Amino acid sequence: MFSPTGEIVEAARAAGVGVGAFNVITVEHAEAIVAGAEAAGHPVVLQISENAVKFHGGRLGPIAAAARRVAELAAVPVGLHLDHVEDDELFDQAAAHGFGSAMYDASRLPFAANVAATRAATARGHAAGIWVESELGEVGGKDGAHAPGVRTDPAEASAYVEATGVDALAVAVGSSHAMTSRTAALDHALIARLRDAITVPLVLHGSSGVPDDELRTAVRGGLVKINIGTALNIAFTGAVRSALRDAAVVDPRRYLKAARAAMADTVTHALRVVTEL
Ligand code: G3H
Ligand code: ZN
Repeated sequence: MFSPTGEIVEAARAAGVGVGAFNVITVEHAEAIVAGAEAAGHPVVLQISENAVKFHGGRLGPIAAAARRVAELAAVPVGLHLDHVEDDELFDQAAAHGFGSAMYDASRLPFAANVAATRAATARGHAAGIWVESELGEVGGKDGAHAPGVRTDPAEASAYVEATGVDALAVAVGSSHAMTSRTAALDHALIARLRDAITVPLVLHGSSGVPDDELRTAVRGGLVKINIGTALNIAFTGAVRSALRDAAVVDPRRYLKAARAAMADTVTHALRVVTEL
């Protein structure tokens, strides 16, 4: 069933466990994420990024409607989150398209400009009933421009949350987007300092590159929303490659079915890692 992201995240935080939030590009992603969550028996968040909206020709409606319907039909609570939004106009469409939450991403901006833009967006989001996530200390890697040493400062994070009114904060603690190897090492001492410094749940981006044990330790240390995208695409593409070795295959259902099953397995595993500590 559909459930507001804020409720799913706050329930997980109260229980001391994590929530997996997985990126949706195609309808098969949404179906696979929900199937994987149902197999694990855990809530999950479907998230659609601004980049995915661009992939769909700039139209949010069709993929959002599909994901929302897949969420409504699920046997476990499923949130719907608009991810990494830099465009104000897109951010403001979230509620009308059935999202319970959105990430306003001004992390490329200097501190004061990030605060000003995020405070304004958060006020608009709250007025529309949207639970708002934002980012301080650029996680990087989305466009290959990651500085691996970038970290979120706890004192700045505390001032930032206070000034913006956001409901959750994405922090830079050693992960990076779009990693295809699971070799990221997280700064667990910093995670503990951030958890103690701020009142809202912490979000980890770029979690595909983080090994299972690191993820478990991070959730035990206070990270709550765990964002995973690339790991699904590795599973999807691997399954398609292997199905297409048979040159007689022409029906896309043959390889999309394999891709969906591979993504569902990845989701089930990741949800067990972040939820069954
Ligand atoms: O917001 C989405 C996540 O940060 C996904 O990152 O593709 O590196 O797992 P990832
Ligand atoms: Zn991200």
